[in-house]
Amino acid sequence: MKSLKMVMVKLMTVFMLIEVITCQFGFGFGADGGLNMNYYLMSCPFVEPVVKNIVNRALDNDPTLAAALIRMHFHDCFIQGCDGSILLDSTKGNTAEKDSPANLSLRGYEVIDDIKDELERRCPGVVSCADILAMAATEAVFYAGGPVYNIPKGRKDGRRSKIEDTRNLPSPTFNASELIRQFGLHGFSAQEMVALSGAHTLGVARCSSFKNRLSQVDPALDSEFAKTLSRTCTSGDNAEQPFDATRNDFDNVYFNALLRRNGVLFSDQDLYTSPRTWNFVNAYAMNEALFFLDFQRAMVKMGLLDIKQGSNGEVRDNCRKIN
Ligand code: HEM
Ligand SMILES: *[C@@H]1O[C@H](CO)[C@@H](O)[C@H](O)[C@H]1NC(C)=O
Ligand SMILES: *[C@@H]1O[C@H](CO)[C@@H](O)[C@H](O)[C@H]1NC(C)=O
Repeated sequence: MKSLKMVMVKLMTVFMLIEVITCQFGFGFGADGGLNMNYYLMSCPFVEPVVKNIVNRALDNDPTLAAALIRMHFHDCFIQGCDGSILLDSTKGNTAEKDSPANLSLRGYEVIDDIKDELERRCPGVVSCADILAMAATEAVFYAGGPVYNIPKGRKDGRRSKIEDTRNLPSPTFNASELIRQFGLHGFSAQEMVALSGAHTLGVARCSSFKNRLSQVDPALDSEFAKTLSRTCTSGDNAEQPFDATRNDFDNVYFNALLRRNGVLFSDQDLYTSPRTWNFVNAYAMNEALFFLDFQRAMVKMGLLDIKQGSNGEVRDNCRKIN
């Protein structure tokens, strides 16, 4: 009897240990649609440091690429799910997503290529381009001073990239209600949509994205700031206007700009005009920690949009081409 009890106790201990390990290392399945935090633990253990090093090196060289990487991940996820399709080049018979006018000056493809090359040397055929992009965006947020967070991995790469699919992207002329509706189709609440818009704490918009607000000055726009935007546009459609005063810093200055009616895009400023969203803008302007928390949660969620798994996808050899 006594030995049976000992065996039971030992078994219990083993089970508890297994549970601790699975929770600790995120081997659990289900909650993240089958992805997990340590998907590459055995197959490519250095995947995260490799991504981090190459992203850091690229951003040391050009800090404006942080915005580019985050935006690229967003576009990838909103068009046919986070499946690396934004990375595919057009071919003879097919115009890819990236060549749509809505590519809106996406940049940073070389950073993804560099990471892929290094990972192919270390663990060929293992790490998907969709995961690389998701990890690169996470590192970019952290590099720019934003929250540090871990994302589940195991996305497969898609085989489709078509210019017409870019219709799913929100337009800078959308009002808050339209933004709520469109993000709602992807399963986001109004508050999550506002938190995600906070990515505009980084980077720039080109004149072509906001000049419609200037010919007949948008009443939601501060009159001094309208002059600033007009001055930017004297250099042409591609002239760049930073979203806020700290274009390379991930902070809540963007939300404070909205409070002063200094939002660059109509879609930014309307978040503070609309009674459906203005309280979230206010909260994030007052409390950066709250913005960081909501942003990281919403980014993890965005990274799970319509992911492809198993035979639904592949691990591309080259992020620009299907196998
Ligand atoms: C809420 C709806 C959104 C709209 C209407 C929108 C629209 C735009 C537009 C028009 C630009 C400027 C493009 C140009 O003129 O070249 C831009 C830039 C940017 N967007 Fe958004 N966006 C939205 C949401 C997001 C989300 C959810 C993210 C990421 C999580 C994001 C990240 C960025 C970044 C980082 C830039 C700057 C890119 C750079 O400097 O290279 N945006 N966005
Ligand atoms: C974006 O699309 C335009 C055509 O609308 C194309 O000329 C440009 O090369 C594209 N940019 C990228 C980075 O693919
Ligand atoms: C938002 O835009 C839609 C479509 O243009 C329009 O029907 C709606 O009235 C607008 N809402 C507000 C509050 O302006």
